[in-house]
Amino acid sequence: MTRLVELEANGPRKLEPSDIDDEKGDVAVCQCGLSASFPFCDGSHRRTGDEEEATTYVYDDDGERSVVERVVTREDVDGSDE
Ligand code: FES
Repeated sequence: MTRLVELEANGPRKLEPSDIDDEKGDVAVCQCGLSASFPFCDGSHRRTGDEEEATTYVYDDDGERSVVERVVTREDVDGSDE
């Protein structure tokens, strides 16, 4: 599966001590791109559990999921993930 995510930041986010989960003592960084608390995981990745491998998805602000045409990535072209 692939997911299209729009990001508007043009700089880093520095982690602060207050970003640490008081109960777990860790910081969970979102890797799915769907978190409303990005760059931190808020559990929104659970919506991706039934995504199919060869399908590309877009999620709107209300969490509605759409299937879109496959986007060609650099990895598709030259086998690189950089
Ligand atoms: S990994 Fe993105 S919300 Fe958890």
